[in-house]
Amino acid sequence: MPYTEGLSTANLLCINPSCASRFPLGEVIYTCPRCGALLEISAPVGLAAERMKRVWRERRMSNAPEDRSGVWRYRELLPFEDMSRIVTLAEGNTPVLEAPHAARYAGLDALRFKHQGFNPTGSFKDNGMTAGASQALRLGLKRVACVSTGNTSASMAAYASAAGLTPIIFLPHGNISYGKLAQALEYGALTVQVEANFDQILKLVRELAEKTGIYLLNSVNPFRIEGQKTIMVELLDQLDWRVPDWIVLPGGNLGNISAFGKAFRELLALGFIGRLPRFAVIQAEGSAPFCSYFHRRGAFTPVTKPETLATAIRIGDPVSWPKAIQVIDESNGVVEKVSEQEIADAKAVIGQCGIGCEPASAATLAGMRKLVASGMMRKEESVVAVLTGHVLKDPDYIYRYHTDQLATPSGGKISPSFANRPVSVAADLDSIAWLLEDRRIS
Ligand code: F0G
Repeated sequence: MPYTEGLSTANLLCINPSCASRFPLGEVIYTCPRCGALLEISAPVGLAAERMKRVWRERRMSNAPEDRSGVWRYRELLPFEDMSRIVTLAEGNTPVLEAPHAARYAGLDALRFKHQGFNPTGSFKDNGMTAGASQALRLGLKRVACVSTGNTSASMAAYASAAGLTPIIFLPHGNISYGKLAQALEYGALTVQVEANFDQILKLVRELAEKTGIYLLNSVNPFRIEGQKTIMVELLDQLDWRVPDWIVLPGGNLGNISAFGKAFRELLALGFIGRLPRFAVIQAEGSAPFCSYFHRRGAFTPVTKPETLATAIRIGDPVSWPKAIQVIDESNGVVEKVSEQEIADAKAVIGQCGIGCEPASAATLAGMRKLVASGMMRKEESVVAVLTGHVLKDPDYIYRYHTDQLATPSGGKISPSFANRPVSVAADLDSIAWLLEDRRIS
């Protein structure tokens, strides 16, 4: 089917309502040159909802790369027209998994996980990066850069290399997991470790991008957000367009919540759905500036020394908070924070479901448990939580937890409520038989 519907008139739009300037899609800008606010891509118009739902479903049976991608399958919602110039690694297509054991832990009747760890580089970043890297190709820019707590860099390295671009990544030295660092190296990125935290490095890299013309692929880039929108479109497609009562996700730089909110806003305006879900963003206690802002309002106050073992969300000055708060407010959403102990135990429970995820993702289950306990979330409500990264992203954390060696960043004790220690045994059958008996495994 030729691509004709949708965004021929798309442009970059300043999100500040009193500015609302528009710029062509081809301009290399990340914030509004007039007022400094964030930019977004204007909303798609003129899609026939029922017809598009059918077309998108039919594309699942196609073998064309742009149809097999769980991002580009929904291309009528994206500001790209020429499918011959995209870079795709068959991203998206991530499952929705029932998790009754985790539901019980949270105090819910039922719970489903949308597991973004099934992506090509193991995190939700791939949904956005396919769009961001495709925009770099369209612009004819050869060098791309990002600062990252690990997953963005892994994803950017893969997509840039696949597209023949040069990936340059900046990482907070010593504060990302080896799994993610290893991916960046393997995918061929120039990998620069900087003695500073994510927020400090992002300021530097934004300046670098401005001065050198290197294309910035952090989530401040509105094309990244467009790709991440499709996580929610695919979810709704998988739920036969029934909107859940709640969508729960971890919050770091707040790009993902901004993307999810934009998806629902647009689908509601286009008549694909009849209502919005409530969003719950969960942060780690030591890196929770958005949670504080949600409860106190006033000026947004960054956390200057963010800490958490969930290094993916170790961010104190999230760029996208103005978009994120709009999503929370319009969806009657909430922001909660959880402790290191709560994240660690929740992560083990997700593992016990046979599902598994990285630490940041487990903040969702810990958060839901709190929200149910406080009465904010009712047990019979339908809830989908987004697991943002794969269990193998941070194996060191897992080993430490199960062997009772995990400590909080300030050296506090984490007591593993669900520790599963490896056991050693002599190489003879009697010893093994005795062990199985002792563990009542017969
Ligand atoms: N979960 C995981 C696994 C992440 O990697 C991130 C962010 C988040 C949640 C938070 O998402 O920033 O959109 O609110 N990781 C970024 C990175 C910052 O550099 O990989 P957010």
